[in-house]
Amino acid sequence: MGIIDRQAACDILRKNDRGGYTVPNGRVYPFQWNWDSAFVALGFDAFNRNRAWTEIETLFSAQWDDGFLPHIVFWKEDPGYFPGPAVWATGKNPVTSGITQPPVAATVVRKLWESATGAGTAEDYRQRLQILFPKLLAWHRWFHDYRDPDRRGVVVATHPWETGRDNSPEWDAPGEPIDVSNVGDYVRRDTSHLDAKMRPTKLEYDRYLALVQFGRATGWDHGRISAENPFRVADVGMSMILLRAHRDLAWLADELGKGAEAAEIRSWIELAERGIGWLWNDEVQAWCSRDVLTRRSSNFITSASFLSFYAGLQDERRDDAMRGHFDRIAGMVEYMVPSLDPADPGFQMVRYWRGPVWAVVNYMIGTGLNEAGDQMRADKVRGDTLALMERNGFYEAYSPIDGSGSGGDDFSWTAAIWLAWADR
Ligand code: GLC
Repeated sequence: MGIIDRQAACDILRKNDRGGYTVPNGRVYPFQWNWDSAFVALGFDAFNRNRAWTEIETLFSAQWDDGFLPHIVFWKEDPGYFPGPAVWATGKNPVTSGITQPPVAATVVRKLWESATGAGTAEDYRQRLQILFPKLLAWHRWFHDYRDPDRRGVVVATHPWETGRDNSPEWDAPGEPIDVSNVGDYVRRDTSHLDAKMRPTKLEYDRYLALVQFGRATGWDHGRISAENPFRVADVGMSMILLRAHRDLAWLADELGKGAEAAEIRSWIELAERGIGWLWNDEVQAWCSRDVLTRRSSNFITSASFLSFYAGLQDERRDDAMRGHFDRIAGMVEYMVPSLDPADPGFQMVRYWRGPVWAVVNYMIGTGLNEAGDQMRADKVRGDTLALMERNGFYEAYSPIDGSGSGGDDFSWTAAIWLAWADR
């Protein structure tokens, strides 16, 4: 591992830049990923403002007519990844997947705009903002139209990969009824790049593919998928992230003088403020995802549980309970914030989303705590994030126990978080 500094972080983004878009990691993830690109734009903004905006613009150039923004854009063929474009078969140009990912883009675009304004270059970017705004709005409207059937202001995920927290234990029980008997044979590629003990099991992977096959069989009809998909879970992470993004999008609408749009977005914010309490779990006293089909709460405390501050929710009793969980967990691990409560028997130091720390999630948690006036815990999260990178390099994720890196190295969004936040 070389020296971890600003130069090294910039080098990773440059190296993973494929011209207009950035791959999360050259070997493991050779395409453009949705929320990765949004965070990567924050990193670029620290040294190349124009390139930061381009990252988001390229992502939105793959938006579908119904407002949907895919989780992967397959700009170029790469046989090293499975499931590739032929498996998704969405029939779009460019070829994309048929599921989405956490909507952090509006929040990022607000940051980019504020940074351009701060540098006195707002006028150079106003037109680009004007072009991006309706695209962001269309995506948020898509969530409202297709992913919140009970109008609670939550986001219903139809695939674990949509949540960005791919194999969180939150998806285990909701995944059980998925019929995997017709999945057929396939060859995974993830386990040829990475140690299998970090990766999902064969059964989990069968379920992932069964869901892809289901979507494909509907011709990626989002209306049908939202009504019939065998996996429908109100994800606490996406719900908090969308609420936050609505606030930033409404702010941008005001900035552009778009009154009707601002009112529409604020109606979604009100809806969420009224309805998102459905995700509060009284038993474990935490924010958890909830299976829409069985109405059961996951009962898992995960890093996403701590995003209520980022969402701008304020409730003294619930906030106190979350701070209590934070302190309890901080007493059990060296580095915050593990993706699963270490008190859970299923906690694993290296398996994806069942223990490891992700820098991007820490960035959101730390930002939220800071905005809520909780400087002490915000500093703890930021300090731990910085220490993980300095001691281990820019890995995909890290063990909360000993800090060792897991997943891919030279990871774009980790380097981006260094540039945008950790090293401040
Ligand atoms: C993994 C993560 C997902 C991320 C992708 C690329 O699949 O779970 O959140 O977008 O890698 O980094």
